Amino acid sequence: MKKKKKFENLVDKNSLLNFLNPTSRGTHFRDSPPSSQLKTRQIGRIILQFHQIISLFQQLNIKLENKIFLDVGTGNGMIPKLISKYTKVKYTEGIDPFLDGEHTTSWQKHDHNSEFFKITKKISSLVNKKNKEIIFEKYSKSTKYEPMSFQPIPIKLELNKKVKYKFHQLDVAKAGSLKKKYDIVYFKALEHISNIDKIFKELNKITKKKSIIYFKHRSFFSYLGPHRYASTFIPWGHVYLSDKEMIKYVKIYHKDRAEKILNFYFKELSYPRFTVNELIKTASDHNFVMKVNIVEPFKKLNKSIKYLRKNKNFWKKVYKNYPKLASDELFSGMHHIILEKK
Ligand SMILES: C[S@@+](CC[C@H](N)C(=O)[O-])C[C@H]1O[C@@H](n2cnc3c(N)ncnc32)[C@H](O)[C@@H]1O
Repeated sequence: MKKKKKFENLVDKNSLLNFLNPTSRGTHFRDSPPSSQLKTRQIGRIILQFHQIISLFQQLNIKLENKIFLDVGTGNGMIPKLISKYTKVKYTEGIDPFLDGEHTTSWQKHDHNSEFFKITKKISSLVNKKNKEIIFEKYSKSTKYEPMSFQPIPIKLELNKKVKYKFHQLDVAKAGSLKKKYDIVYFKALEHISNIDKIFKELNKITKKKSIIYFKHRSFFSYLGPHRYASTFIPWGHVYLSDKEMIKYVKIYHKDRAEKILNFYFKELSYPRFTVNELIKTASDHNFVMKVNIVEPFKKLNKSIKYLRKNKNFWKKVYKNYPKLASDELFSGMHHIILEKK
């Protein structure tokens, strides 16, 4: 009872439940999705991700023509397949140590071929027939839950290409075993990586001068950094609580799932934690230099930020736990960090 008092004033269930995206019908908010076809919002998320990549590359004058593209943490491989089909890249590959349903954050089990067909059909309906450009406004509705604020620009697509894609079931910590040099590495798995120094060593083995690395990164320190699986009922509780306090809190408030939550928190998310500024510094130690770092704020920041005003100790405690943390990272929804190899 005494222990419960310690967190009592901080706990507010709505601070989590009002901020999560919808889950599949019949599942608890902390469950991974069951096997099923992809939902409209999942298809919207895939198309947006693909469109943001090609849009940002065009704006930064990063050419895809004849390049070799690798997707790290590819999951169902939809992103590299779309890149292969609709751009001038030579071919694409993807790595992921986990198959559908094997990791807490994996895609649900689904038929990759028929779902890819569905996505390409959808893309056909979004393309302007005259100039062959994909237009964000045409699918913006299906992206309403995405933590995004920068809208991709209209981009001309290749419409008659065949997909050239190969999957390797491989951990990025062993990426060096691929023995190839990639021109572009897209990386949306950083939140699960613990030893970034080792990862940059591996990335160095599979890239060459002027290769590009693009991290799409949801920071641990962002509002939903521990995902729906390990976020607390305390606003930014994962940043506010020390590790010891987190263990105590979970054992009191989430007793029935404590082991699962703590396993995800300490073993499936990067640990020890690292900030984006530490990431960019480590990248530069390994010859990867920043081209751009875009921070999209948490989508519901206006609503979530009000909780901070209620907690006078918040920043003091946060800086004690994480002295190198910047407020823009705490307020972030998504980072887009693009680096070039010197
Ligand atoms: C956020 S999901 C992204 C999935 C997919 N790229 C997408 O955007 O739809 C993170 C992915 O990282 C993968 N992953 C986790 N640990 C990894 C590791 N050590 N090396 C490579 N991929 C990893 C997971 O299996 C999962 O598919």
